[in-house]
Amino acid sequence: MSKNFKRTLITSALPYANGPVHIGHLAGVYVPADIYARYKRLRGEEVLFVGGSDEHGVPITIRAKKEGVTPQDVVDRYHNLIRDSFKGLGISFDVYGRTTSETHRHTASDFFRKLYDKGEFIEKSSMQLYDEKAGQFLADRYVTGTCPHCGNEHAYGDQCESCGTSLNATDLINPRSAITGNVPVLKETSHWFLPLDKWEPALRNWILEDHKEWKSNVYGQCKSWLDMGLQPRAVSRDLDWGIPVPVEGADGKVLYVWFDAPIGYISNTKDCVGDDWEKWWKDPETRMLHFIGKDNIVFHCIVFPAMLMADGSYNLPDNVPANEFLNLEDDKISTSRNWAVWLHEYLNDFPGKQDTLRYVLTANAPETKDNNFTWKDFQARNNSELVAILGNFVNRATVLLHKYFEGVVPAQGELQEIDKALIEETRQAASALTDNLENFKFREALKEAMNIARAGNKYLADTEPWKLFKTDPQRVATILNLSIQLCANLAIAFEPFTPFMAERLLKMLNAGSISWDMLGCFDLVPAGAKIAAPELLFEKIEDEAIQAQVDRLMKIKEENKLASWQPEKVKENVDFPTFEKMDIRVGKVVECRKVPKADKLLEFRIDDGMGGRTIVSGIAKFYQPEELVGKEVCFIANFEPRKLRGILSEGMILSAQDADGRLVVIGPQGEVRPGSSVG
Ligand code: MF3
Ligand code: ZN
Repeated sequence: MSKNFKRTLITSALPYANGPVHIGHLAGVYVPADIYARYKRLRGEEVLFVGGSDEHGVPITIRAKKEGVTPQDVVDRYHNLIRDSFKGLGISFDVYGRTTSETHRHTASDFFRKLYDKGEFIEKSSMQLYDEKAGQFLADRYVTGTCPHCGNEHAYGDQCESCGTSLNATDLINPRSAITGNVPVLKETSHWFLPLDKWEPALRNWILEDHKEWKSNVYGQCKSWLDMGLQPRAVSRDLDWGIPVPVEGADGKVLYVWFDAPIGYISNTKDCVGDDWEKWWKDPETRMLHFIGKDNIVFHCIVFPAMLMADGSYNLPDNVPANEFLNLEDDKISTSRNWAVWLHEYLNDFPGKQDTLRYVLTANAPETKDNNFTWKDFQARNNSELVAILGNFVNRATVLLHKYFEGVVPAQGELQEIDKALIEETRQAASALTDNLENFKFREALKEAMNIARAGNKYLADTEPWKLFKTDPQRVATILNLSIQLCANLAIAFEPFTPFMAERLLKMLNAGSISWDMLGCFDLVPAGAKIAAPELLFEKIEDEAIQAQVDRLMKIKEENKLASWQPEKVKENVDFPTFEKMDIRVGKVVECRKVPKADKLLEFRIDDGMGGRTIVSGIAKFYQPEELVGKEVCFIANFEPRKLRGILSEGMILSAQDADGRLVVIGPQGEVRPGSSVG
């Protein structure tokens, strides 16, 4: 366990450079990794925090093809966007590299070659779908067809997005190439496989015996993989985007993206520290941690460790604190459906509010189960926690100091019980905070940090220094000294979570450098120090800003509904006599008016050629009553009469429902006498 380590290597999953980063990525991976890295640095420990973009893989080639640009264009664009937006949020990577770098090409290539030379791969032939027109093998993602489970006609070769089942391209009914639309054929191809089965006993021991302390979601997933039994995994692909397989006669084959990407952690380390990189990867006194989302568990706990074992000279991760998923407004975040809050857009829409997003994502981190982000909650946490508790305490303390002591910290007098209780409470919160951070419980840790601010507010409310100044300025000096010390504690405690605020607060306090050991100390700002003029650390977020975000999401939801609309399945057949039972007629609207107190209903008087009838219809949202007067409509004449809002409705007016739910009344295309039958 963590006792004998000298330094910590922190990796965070390399995001695919085929789209921007969203709040799900942040809450699951980057914010917790950054909190941990900042915390460890404050402890004075040696830390390397490695990030970077994952720039290979089929989705990038698909995107490039769709846009008519090269894959390199795609990854250049998103790599820069992602890197800059991480920086904007204060994610403190020591290096943010990319898997198209020269260093990475060599590192990944050499890694493969070493395993190849050691005989760690098996070469196997298999039948794969091949597009004869495009002259290439089709990755699973490049094949579409009908899902054998749910009948969705637009399933992908690797997964049906309608029912969520994982598929193999060869499972699809009526497969089609996504490149040419051609029907693919099966063709033999050969690939290199890493025999995971060979490493199964070692993996079992290492995870199930030696790492029982891993988070239960991670441990449980590993156990179920191991219990199912491991199979050899292909580490090469037939593709023209990736790192060429460094073997004679492997033309047209590249390393599988999940083989090269984790090696990116090594390459990026090299780019950061040069020749010193081995210290970070091979010295047993280095502790390695992988921060990832739950969809990456198998690759980081089983496949990559098996690669490292096969090499034989590397450390294995000491922990893999993977998180579950974050939903957005109760719906799964989805890049393809644009259902996300994108980091670069957030930074634009809420300038200077990086800490609020970091805070809210930590408070709602999907640590043990999926969690949910809503804009209402975002606003509430900002306004009633950051502003009303943390910001409020610091503001009160510094304003009082300026009011009574012109901003100069007075000396502490003798401490009373209530002062000692405050110090004790702060120390306890600080120690719980530290424990939770060590155990990757960032939500709990954040609560403890906020408890320190809560204790501060309570302290001021209980001691009421504003009532004492006239009679006992010495007592007020003590109270405000302690309050300022508490502000310094807050700056330290919150630095990992809300670093922008911490920096401003430290500046306000004129405090020098800080360290985690100082937490719980009440002599951090010396008497005589001058505190800068109070400024608000957080501002309220108004309803309008939140409504704009909610509106944007509602619009996307609407667009998605339209884009995914499909006609309803045709109902069971009926025979002619059954059809004939339904008496459809043409009628002419004579009068039409709104039904009072019913926002959906219109009342029609119809000339039906038989003396007229009244029909109530639920189309008031789509028509003004006068629009329909004089129009011919079709209605069911023998529909059982029924009372709606006290009006007897004798029939049903036919209308069609469009994708957006809009109802359009159906009528004859030419003039027809009222009462004519339709059939
Ligand atoms: N790009 C992958 C994803 O977004 C993560 C790669 S992590 C690494 O799911 F280890 F492979 F780098
Ligand atoms: Zn399906």
